[in-house]
Amino acid sequence: MDMIRPLTGFGNEHASEALPGALPIGQNTPQKVAFGLYAEQISGTAFTAPRAENRRTWFYRLRPTASHPPYRRTEARSLCSGPFTEVPPSPNRLRWSPLPMPTAPTTFLEGLFTLGGNGSPAHGDGAAIHAYLANTSMVDTAFFNADGELLIVPQSGTLRIVTELGVLQVPPGHIALIPRGLRLRVELPDGPVRGYVCENHGAPFRLPELGPIGSNGLANPRDFIAPTASYEDVERPTRLVQKFQGHLWETTLDHSPFDVVAWHGSHVPYTYDLARFNTVNTVSFDHPDPSIFTVLTSPSDTPGTANCDFVIFPPRWMVAEHTFRPPWFHRNVMSELMGLVHGVYDAKADQFVPGGVSLHNCMSSHGPDRKTYEAAVAAELAPKKIDNTLAFMFETRWVISPTRAAMESPSLQSDYDTCWADLRKAQVPAPKGSAQ
Ligand code: FE2
Repeated sequence: MDMIRPLTGFGNEHASEALPGALPIGQNTPQKVAFGLYAEQISGTAFTAPRAENRRTWFYRLRPTASHPPYRRTEARSLCSGPFTEVPPSPNRLRWSPLPMPTAPTTFLEGLFTLGGNGSPAHGDGAAIHAYLANTSMVDTAFFNADGELLIVPQSGTLRIVTELGVLQVPPGHIALIPRGLRLRVELPDGPVRGYVCENHGAPFRLPELGPIGSNGLANPRDFIAPTASYEDVERPTRLVQKFQGHLWETTLDHSPFDVVAWHGSHVPYTYDLARFNTVNTVSFDHPDPSIFTVLTSPSDTPGTANCDFVIFPPRWMVAEHTFRPPWFHRNVMSELMGLVHGVYDAKADQFVPGGVSLHNCMSSHGPDRKTYEAAVAAELAPKKIDNTLAFMFETRWVISPTRAAMESPSLQSDYDTCWADLRKAQVPAPKGSAQ
């Protein structure tokens, strides 16, 4: 029986050792580390970032990561990041059916397909949004992203993510947050997987402020779980791939890079069960803006205007009186890319299916489709539970430019506009003085 207690708490200073006595006490760099381990720090924020935002971790490992041959450029397949200039950003509403699963052996790294994004790793802003489709575990291969952190949202199939700090199990309905630069290897214990990734080039994701909600609610810090230390002592050639400024580079180590025996710090990966999200909404009438569903936010330098928000639409009770309950018609300054983990999203009756994607850029008009609208205005407003569904949104202050591969994908739906095409005109008397 596994008696290891999970490390909990978003943003905490965590500590873990796989061998008793491996973790130095009272200092970071003793002259001689226990067992002859090497001390090494990774920083995820500038040294002088404010204390509440400062992220760094100390590793105690078999070898320092500096021991590696030069990197060389390698093929990136369908993975890229900003600046996104392949095709003009589109003001049209766009929607994709799920991308097809590969038939050839494909790992998580090989199966990353960039849908679009904004900003660039060079300037430390924006995000790249990828789908992933894979059917093969990474073997003797490790990956890290020097361009940003990875927010992974599985839609189908469980990920077992081996990291330098320990192992994460991430089934659909959970998310993983992998900090910038951390080595990982993705294994598929249950077979093929599909999901979404937000590669965040801006400020690291954090929990949103709660304002008048108070000190509890939405995603609570204690529900984020960091791994406990575990290490491999493997002397076998290992391919180490990094994403650096939008390109992939690789080198070959003569050992596993997952050789961290103990660690402490705040630059750590997390898993989070989205079912733990404490949903807050109206108990009277109307409903708040969807920002009320924010799980994590990457702020920009403009207060209240996120570089990227991660927002979910989880199961919840609808009790609003004399209210149109689904999402209303709207056009927003922020750009929205949505995905669906399972079930049905309450603004769309069909064609937006699990594994699919929709993109509504700045000021593009959207909202419920006709079927949803007509059902909602006719509905008897008894308390009703929206259940068995989980949709999410990456919302960002900058327009999301799709990649050429996304725009040329057979999964792009050509008829998305038609879901709003036949909404009936409201019937009102002719304006006074108008021609008859
Ligand atoms: Fe929207």
